[in-house]
Amino acid sequence: MSGASDVPVIAIDGPSGSGKGTIARRVAHKMGWALLDSGALYRLVALAAQQQGIALDDAGALAQLAARLDVRFGSDALGNEQIWLAEEDVTASIRTEECGAGASAVAALKPVRRALLELQRGFRRAPGLVADGRDMGTHVFKDAGLKVFLTASPRERAKRRHKQLKEKGIDVSLAALSRDIEERDRRDSERSVAPLRPAEDARILDSSGKSIEDVTQTVLDWMSEL
Ligand code: C5P
Repeated sequence: MSGASDVPVIAIDGPSGSGKGTIARRVAHKMGWALLDSGALYRLVALAAQQQGIALDDAGALAQLAARLDVRFGSDALGNEQIWLAEEDVTASIRTEECGAGASAVAALKPVRRALLELQRGFRRAPGLVADGRDMGTHVFKDAGLKVFLTASPRERAKRRHKQLKEKGIDVSLAALSRDIEERDRRDSERSVAPLRPAEDARILDSSGKSIEDVTQTVLDWMSEL
């Protein structure tokens, strides 16, 4: 039997709002591969901490929480994403701005990142894995066959996020979102542990002004060149 390291991985990293979640999902679907939304794991740690009254700077307790994370990814009858934390459907609650900010805070703690490492690597299953996050190509799957660093201008990212939230009936000002995105980018790229940056061997893809279909196709074309 071949080991997990023989299973091909595509790493798609980038800042929030670059569209990597959407692109990763589409690429995984087209290939019939598994998908890892690593940001969801950090969001789940933040949510579980909030529910259990654990402070977002209590690295030891948060790492224990991360190591015991009882998470299940699935989809409903329409193919929409569903995420379960133990028995609770947390699909919507982990997507709030508050949970995103909490995720970014716990993600800066080394013990939390270490606790999530093996959990993330466990998603590598035949026939292949598309892994979406901030450090998939630089840390978690350094041996990924294809590493994509997806970017878009901060303005465009704020506009996309605004549209997504509006569709969910959540009303947030564009200016506030832009500020949040810039603040989160800064924290994610300046932190000392696993800062957000492209892997040396990553291919940079700027999605500003490009359709989801075009960006997905570019990634699939790069894959077929391997
Ligand atoms: O991608 P998403 O917005 O769900 O990620 C939430 C937060 O989790 C990010 O702002 C980042 O701080 C953190 N994260 C990370 N490493 C990853 C994925 C997410 O640090 N691989």
